[in-house]
Amino acid sequence: MTISRFTGRTALVTGAGSGIGRAVAVALGAEGAQVVVAGRRQEPLTETVRLIEEAGGKALAVTADVARAAEIQAVVDAAVDRFGSLDVAVNNAGVFRGGQPLADLPEADWHEQLDTNVTGVFLALQAEVRQMRTQPTGGAIVNIASTFGVHTRHPGATAYAATKAAVSVLTRGAALDHIRDGVRINAVSPGPVDTPMSLRPGEQEPDRTERARTTLPLGRISTTQEIATAVLYLASDAAASVVGTDLVVDSGATA
Ligand SMILES: NC(=O)c1ccc[n+]([C@@H]2O[C@H](COP(=O)([O-])OP(=O)(O)OC[C@H]3O[C@@H](n4cnc5c(N)ncnc54)[C@H](OP(=O)(O)O)[C@@H]3O)[C@@H](O)[C@H]2O)c1
Repeated sequence: MTISRFTGRTALVTGAGSGIGRAVAVALGAEGAQVVVAGRRQEPLTETVRLIEEAGGKALAVTADVARAAEIQAVVDAAVDRFGSLDVAVNNAGVFRGGQPLADLPEADWHEQLDTNVTGVFLALQAEVRQMRTQPTGGAIVNIASTFGVHTRHPGATAYAATKAAVSVLTRGAALDHIRDGVRINAVSPGPVDTPMSLRPGEQEPDRTERARTTLPLGRISTTQEIATAVLYLASDAAASVVGTDLVVDSGATA
């Protein structure tokens, strides 16, 4: 058996049925972790489990809405019941609702983003830290924030940006609160990534490619695998002294 960075460790990834979350879950599985994948819909999670198992890894799907405390607690409990510990958690589940100026955003869209992006990360952090601080080896948590947050502002994304700024601030505060419990907490803030979330209203993929070519310093958006690479670094022992950082991976957009 090859010994990899996460061999024998149990990892939890929220929003693992698609996009960045799926790429992170598959990468963790490929590097030896037993991966618990969470999200609201079963079908995409089943596909992520299949991809991990196909590559020789172990995975378990648990449906949960991260905005509900009992449901995210049940995901943590399932990880511990099945695999014996929770060593890594990636709080990735998030939604974007916007495209219009603040005054025109439906109130329901504000609440949905606040519930998933902020309350969801807060509740996940609570459930994860409460488990990890009981373990002799502690744990590592990576939250997915965004450059649309503390790093930059864009018209039509104000409510989303407020929620992602909260994720960056939650990360730094929680990191200080819990590093002496043996729980290391960091964030990754992606810029535009190759998932539907980075498409502007009415935009198709070729339009986005052209926009990236002309506006981003690198000339292209990030792949989900590139975000996963950053997440796995922060979750690994190589980042043992990295605490409360917010790692920007954005093709140079905020350089
Ligand atoms: N793509 C980008 O350009 C970009 C840039 C910066 C930051 N981000 C952030 O990266 C993360 C992943 O984005 P993505 O582009 O991969 O989007 P995505 O493909 O839409 O993935 C989001 C995932 O979160 C899950 N989810 C949504 N609400 C949930 C809830 N209440 N409880 C549990 N799971 C929930 C969704 O599954 P269900 O619907 O089945 O629950 C989905 O699988 C998000 O936090 C996003 O804000 C993305």
